[in-house]
Amino acid sequence: MLTDLRIDDTRLLQRLDDLACHGAREDGGVSRLALTDADKAGRDQVVAWMRRLGLDVTIDAIGNIHGTRRGRSDGPPVMTGSHIDTVATGGLYDGNLGGLAGLEVIEVLNAARLETTRPVAVGFFTNEEGARFAPDMMGSGVHQGSMDLEACLAAVDVNGATVEAELARIGFAGDTPCGNFRAAAFFELHIEQGPVLEREGITIGAVTGVQGISWTELVLSGQSNHAGTTPMGLRRDPMVPAAQIAVFVRDMSDRLGGSQVGTVGALTASPNLVNVVPASVTMTVDLRNTDEDLLQEAERRLAGHLDRLAADEGVDIETRVLARFEPVTFDPDVIGLVAEVARDLGHDVRRLPSGAGHDAQMLARVCPTGMVFVPSVGGISHNPAEHTDPVDITAGADVLLRTLVQLATIDSEKSES
Ligand code: GLV
Ligand code: MN
Ligand code: MN
Repeated sequence: MLTDLRIDDTRLLQRLDDLACHGAREDGGVSRLALTDADKAGRDQVVAWMRRLGLDVTIDAIGNIHGTRRGRSDGPPVMTGSHIDTVATGGLYDGNLGGLAGLEVIEVLNAARLETTRPVAVGFFTNEEGARFAPDMMGSGVHQGSMDLEACLAAVDVNGATVEAELARIGFAGDTPCGNFRAAAFFELHIEQGPVLEREGITIGAVTGVQGISWTELVLSGQSNHAGTTPMGLRRDPMVPAAQIAVFVRDMSDRLGGSQVGTVGALTASPNLVNVVPASVTMTVDLRNTDEDLLQEAERRLAGHLDRLAADEGVDIETRVLARFEPVTFDPDVIGLVAEVARDLGHDVRRLPSGAGHDAQMLARVCPTGMVFVPSVGGISHNPAEHTDPVDITAGADVLLRTLVQLATIDSEKSES
């Protein structure tokens, strides 16, 4: 009986622990920036697991790993997956849970000798985080077709290494063309990375969509000089407007309210010395909103503030867009299916939008797509302390299993229409 299928939580938790050894931090977290040696080790592990599961494994030109389990028909697969790259201060679950729960679904289907109508594929996408190379969601963006392969291969990290060279170095510059298949549907399990589910005591989030994301790098240039001898009135110090920008981003986000959030997450002064007025400051601004018009309003207000500061402080401010994604709404049928499956399994469900970016937001442009969230303890993520209760992991993975089986056995005419 399909309804008797359950994931094996011990096996899934063991895989999460095993993967966390690659890039393990002393504080218990994980640092597995995209295309580093730790990422290579994690990828090798994933490929070995996929092969043991009998999946047909391909690596495409942007390094995405896809493993496919045959179905009765050889049409487009129903797909799940996520990413195993992390921020430098990452935890065990962001991304990893979705991909490894996908492998656990394959384990269950294999053990039950269950033949689905459609193939089932698990994807591990390259550089979802964007913490080393911008933009984020690179692998899923190229796979789905909205990002240009050549431009992404040319992206550089802070040391000047390109995606292309790093893919080749770690042996993941694959020969499968990007986007060589289109999924019939995509469904991703992820930790919430926010406080809503925990605060409301709800186990399962049926994700309605992903808010829009705007990332900008700012380079503020002034006049470097001696900190002791340069009179205050004669300075062109880029640190002062940099500090004002950080405060402005917070105040503007507060004033816009609603879902608007704003963050200055990275800031470096050059030459970064105690007794030198900086020559330049490089910083980032991350703005997000579920409403595209309001996100554009936030961008306009920031741009106006930058113009005023540049004039008042006598500094040059150069801006570069690192990433820009409009808000995405997931497929209503998939959202409804998640809620139905979760309730059948005895869980409370809440519909909520995602504050974080996800590979699912790229796939949503080309096929019916949805996500399921499980609670994050304390709403903490992008932090080694990131944690999700094993009971919730099991619940989310069971929802993933049941939803994928339904999507993969649904009659093809309906899901292709
Ligand atoms: C990716 O995790 C993002 O939302 O920044
Ligand atoms: Mn993630
Ligand atoms: Mn993340």
